[in-house]
Amino acid sequence: MPKLTFLGHACFLLGEEGKETLVFDPFLRENPQASLRPEEVKAEYVLISHGHYDHLGEAYEIAEANKAMIISTSEISNDAESKGLSAHPLNIGGKFNFPFGWVKLTLAFHGSGFAGGHACGFVVHYYGKNIYFAGDTGLFSDMKLIGELTPLDIALLPIGDNYTMGIDDAAIAASFLKAKTVIPYHYNTWPLIAADPEEFKKKVEEKTNSRCVIISPGESHNF
Ligand code: NI
Ligand code: MN
Repeated sequence: MPKLTFLGHACFLLGEEGKETLVFDPFLRENPQASLRPEEVKAEYVLISHGHYDHLGEAYEIAEANKAMIISTSEISNDAESKGLSAHPLNIGGKFNFPFGWVKLTLAFHGSGFAGGHACGFVVHYYGKNIYFAGDTGLFSDMKLIGELTPLDIALLPIGDNYTMGIDDAAIAASFLKAKTVIPYHYNTWPLIAADPEEFKKKVEEKTNSRCVIISPGESHNF
């Protein structure tokens, strides 16, 4: 059974006993919610949604220590390769098969934090389960298409407002995506992105058929 562990802010581990582990946006050292130190992260793949420091974080350090493959935009992948790391470049709308399944890059309405690049989200097909990690993004109606093209088991959505969707827009995103389970992130790391996940859960479960699961930093959800 795949397991998703929230490490705080926008960082998740996706793994299953005896299978590859993927880490998303590992920003841990300066993350007040972080439940692991970067040295403790064991992963075969490092997914990076964009170049802002709270997402790029210790991605390169973790990739180097684990001899892991980075999966990101062409610009971030090329930069990682120029520093001697292994990386797989993708661009928006593109999909590639990996040993664990496939990864497709999605649109994210947000700054790239990286010259010439785009911010992105990911749809990950991992041993039969479909997970959407939205990255940092505002609400956009093409999220409907993301959920139509790939029936989602889990949608991971930012809810902290200010830099990304807030609770109301993220609840609309959930209604577009129609995932079985919705999990919030990118909130309460700092006062600027304070949000009540219980309020989000209530809105999602009132407006949609999705279940909302709140994972505290350091906790896991099996699915
Ligand atoms: Ni950002
Ligand atoms: Mn961010």
